[in-house]
Amino acid sequence: MAVSIRWLGHSAYAFDIDGHKLLIDPFVSGNPVAKAAANELEAEVILLTHAHGDHVGDSVEIAKRTGALVVCNFEMGDWFMAHGVQNVFQGNPGGTFRNDWMSAKWTVAHHSSSFPDGTYGGQPNGFVIRGGGSVVYHAGDTSLFSDMKLIGEEGLGLALLPIGDCFTMGIDDSIKAIKFLTPKRVSPMHYNTFPPIEQDAGAWAARVDAETSARAVVLEPDGELTL
Ligand code: NI
Ligand code: MN
Repeated sequence: MAVSIRWLGHSAYAFDIDGHKLLIDPFVSGNPVAKAAANELEAEVILLTHAHGDHVGDSVEIAKRTGALVVCNFEMGDWFMAHGVQNVFQGNPGGTFRNDWMSAKWTVAHHSSSFPDGTYGGQPNGFVIRGGGSVVYHAGDTSLFSDMKLIGEEGLGLALLPIGDCFTMGIDDSIKAIKFLTPKRVSPMHYNTFPPIEQDAGAWAARVDAETSARAVVLEPDGELTL
């Protein structure tokens, strides 16, 4: 049982779970820090946290090319079906998508969610992802919220948290979030993609290691982490 996680930059990840391919928020084309090309990404499942362009990214093209199942909230699923992607699983917070190699439970996120064309994109989400013997929390775009304590009760091996500030929590609140989530490891996302979300990840990591029980893992775009 093995999970490897490749950070594509921003909030985009490519997971390999026991040989199965999962993409989360695959924003690659138009992502100034991404090294991957959208047309080389493989997926059986694409998880989407919300409808903003920096998260939906290349999902339509990848879903059509690979036939991947798009797992997202109800309103987003309707938009995908209206845009020629029929292989969709729709959920909402509290619900869980399951197949024979992974599951993903929708969590709340405090943010907004509309498609680049203005269509309402439902409520934004995070996910607790289980597979390959590991439990990973992808927070999506969110502020700090105290119910992260409940998410911590899932027994997280890894938390993927935004630290960019401006559109999500920044570094100070991410430290509080880590204390609520108590993951074994934590890795930062949604920073240094654009000027409004520039952050010093080294300074963040030093604070994580000094102030929390988690171990900080800072990846470069295209960097990999094995659980
Ligand atoms: Ni967003
Ligand atoms: Mn975003």
